[in-house]
Amino acid sequence: MTYPDMQSKSAQLYERAKQVLPWGSTRQAAFFKPYPIYAAFGNGSRVTDVDGVERIDYVCNYSALMHGHCHPKIVEALRKQAGELLSIALPTEAEVRLAEMVCERMPGIERIRFCNSGTEGVMFTIKAARAYTNRPMIAKVEGAYHGSDDTASISTYPMPDSWGDPDAPDSVPPAGTTQHCAEDVTVIPMNDAEAARRIISEHRDQLAAVLVDPMVKNLGYEQATPEFIGAIREETAKHGILLIFDEVYSFRLGYNGAQGVLGVNPDLTAMGKIIGGGLPVGAVGGSAAIMDELFDQRNKPRLEHSGTFNANPMTMAAGAAAMELLTRDEFDRVAALGDRARSGLADAIKASGAKATVRGTTSVIALFHTSADQEMHTYRDIMTVLAQDPAMMERSYRFFVHMLNNGVLMTPYGFMLLSTAMNESDIDVMLEAAHSGLRALKESAAA
Ligand SMILES: Cc1ncc(COP(=O)(O)O)c(C=O)c1O
Repeated sequence: MTYPDMQSKSAQLYERAKQVLPWGSTRQAAFFKPYPIYAAFGNGSRVTDVDGVERIDYVCNYSALMHGHCHPKIVEALRKQAGELLSIALPTEAEVRLAEMVCERMPGIERIRFCNSGTEGVMFTIKAARAYTNRPMIAKVEGAYHGSDDTASISTYPMPDSWGDPDAPDSVPPAGTTQHCAEDVTVIPMNDAEAARRIISEHRDQLAAVLVDPMVKNLGYEQATPEFIGAIREETAKHGILLIFDEVYSFRLGYNGAQGVLGVNPDLTAMGKIIGGGLPVGAVGGSAAIMDELFDQRNKPRLEHSGTFNANPMTMAAGAAAMELLTRDEFDRVAALGDRARSGLADAIKASGAKATVRGTTSVIALFHTSADQEMHTYRDIMTVLAQDPAMMERSYRFFVHMLNNGVLMTPYGFMLLSTAMNESDIDVMLEAAHSGLRALKESAAA
């Protein structure tokens, strides 16, 4: 079956779904035109849709499925847990086990508390920083996505008519967030160490924390440079401001997360995705000093943090099983598959002569349909390239559809993620599809 096919079960399901779900599904990231593909089941690296079409899943639920679909060890842990407790208003040993594993790996996490999404994890790190420092403001990077919390979503997708000076960007609230909220946020350009120092120093008495994602997906997996992080760490420490790492995504970078790679300990860390083993999860972690002061119930608690499903035993069991499977060797193996994929894609771009460039590291890949000599390191760089070449998104979409029709599910915007369920032949299937897809793009550009 070739996508799109208006007779397909997915197309029919979409018509039905639109009667009750705006756009036919709850998840914005799951939608593409003319209709989204509805999933039926997954197994290892593969996912099968309701029409029975199997594809290699290079989305991995936007990083959460580090072990692909239905890993037998995770399913076994869930089966056992489902027979014992689904949810409960008491702590469980599974919660203690997962907490021990995360604390053992993440240098900046000595204590952790769980919640149910990365959005919540980020939100609680922000609240924790405000409560700990008694200050209102947060600094964040322009164009960095941190989930849907009001504060964290400021200036995630600002437009040129309101984004202000490139060296001192304006705080732009998205629809549904108030200007009042934006006033408590100051915005830093990605990887501009000098601007970071200046902006932090200007707001030093008001800033509770600087929130940084060490690897920003929206910016083509742009990694924070050691100079940028070093400047922020130094400035925050000087002024009693906390440094928050959002490792919801960047935990993928290695056994000890991005903080292990960078050799920098944040004061607080937001976690999510992988640590839930495929089930909903989030967490706020940090140093014992900060976390105990804020959350120790024997003290007068300074920060309210409750939730009916926080640390629910199903997520904790799946998360613990997933973390056990995620050894240093597995990180290395997946990173080697990533190298094979990135160098194969670079070869395919060269062989086809298509206008495209490949980026990423370890288990993440971004394929942008623009030439390699374009500056694409900040949000404004990307917006400038898009303004100069509006057909870029169209090329990206056509490539995505070609991949769908050749056994590969990736994101419409060119992102691919790897899982431990993949092997070299999964990479080679993707590369073969990419070769023909890039050739087709080049041919249609020449026509
Ligand atoms: C860096 C980052 N932070 C936070 C979030 C929000 O996590 P969730 O979707 O679990 O709310 C995401 C989600 O993609 C993310 O990539």
